[in-house]
Amino acid sequence: MTDSVNFDEIIDRKGTHSAKWDAMEPLYGVPADGGIAMWVADMDFRPPTCVQNKLQEMLDHGVYGYYAGDASYRAAICWWMKTRHNWEVDPAAIFTTHGLVNGTAMCVDTWTEPGDGVVLFTPVYHSFAKVIKANNRRVVECPMVVNNGRYELDFDSYDDILDGSEKLLVFCSPHNPGGRVWSRDELEQVADFARKHDLILVSDEIHHDIVMPDQTHTAFALLDNISDRLVMMTATTKTFNIAGSHSGNVIIADEKLRGEFETRMAALGLSANSFGLHMAEAAYSPEGAAWVDEMVAYMDGNRKLFDAGINSIPGLKSMNLESTYLAWVSFEDTGMSPEEYTQRVEKTARIAANHGPTFGTGGENYMRFNLATPRALVEEAVERMKQAFGDLQ
Ligand SMILES: Cc1ncc(COP(=O)(O)O)c(C=O)c1O
Repeated sequence: MTDSVNFDEIIDRKGTHSAKWDAMEPLYGVPADGGIAMWVADMDFRPPTCVQNKLQEMLDHGVYGYYAGDASYRAAICWWMKTRHNWEVDPAAIFTTHGLVNGTAMCVDTWTEPGDGVVLFTPVYHSFAKVIKANNRRVVECPMVVNNGRYELDFDSYDDILDGSEKLLVFCSPHNPGGRVWSRDELEQVADFARKHDLILVSDEIHHDIVMPDQTHTAFALLDNISDRLVMMTATTKTFNIAGSHSGNVIIADEKLRGEFETRMAALGLSANSFGLHMAEAAYSPEGAAWVDEMVAYMDGNRKLFDAGINSIPGLKSMNLESTYLAWVSFEDTGMSPEEYTQRVEKTARIAANHGPTFGTGGENYMRFNLATPRALVEEAVERMKQAFGDLQ
């Protein structure tokens, strides 16, 4: 072990402009004092020492001017994708955006026109629909099905949903929420679907490093005959808990698509934040990799504890996570109205968790709980949920 991060340490984030802790009361009515923040996807842990040291070096130097010479940054990304994902990236294929919500918006802006359809497999990360709608494009929802307690894609029904006005598919791999790690066979089917409907395929792989020990993520770029329509999106931000650095990578192998994206980046005057670049380069290193392995093992422990507790409450069902630290809990079998179970989570258990319907069709009757917090808080959350739903025991 090259790092000495104690994931059990409870770090008070209140009053630090933390969205997760400081916005939970206005958004969910759960005061941070006494409440548990289990919503927005960031972790309550410090990033690896290699990232902290890089920031300290910048602070010690004390001059924060424009950044130049990104060859070592690009090399670090290529190294990470090769060693962790067996994916050879051409350094020239990498764009740096202001995060991956921005990356998604840039793809919508580059390859669609107002009124065009953008396909999503729902329920899915809510900001996709937000940026699609904000750009006056149409969200075309293709609902996933739950089979044996996990999400699956139902291509037979999707062909009838599309009407030919769709230009883009935003795919989440691994999937948030529900944590599916898609098999190679499933990815082939997604690729066939994109070809059949002539869609540009944006694969958001922001969660690709947080994959449970018994699972293997396949980068979409490893598939054959898809690069002419494929846009990959990756980031250090979820993996290393540095979302505030607002930095992400859009990686485009195809020269024509790359040129189109580059033109829009230039037209919008976008360039990267030096803090994000420095942090990413430091993170994509052997020290960063060792930290990620420990973090994932810790998260595996958290999700096992959470699932065992939640699934012991009659009527509640936590989906088995193959990836991510975002537990997806169904309240359907409680027979309660969404108002009632939400009230119990927020007012009785004093937990702020995301509301399922914000993730689109299929999210009704679910709530999403962020488990990236010290285990003692996960234990406390489980106990509170058992009490809040105690009459179901
Ligand atoms: C699938 C997915 N994409 C993108 C993001 C956010 O990306 P960023 O913070 O880089 O805008 C999230 C955050 O939870 C996510 O789950």
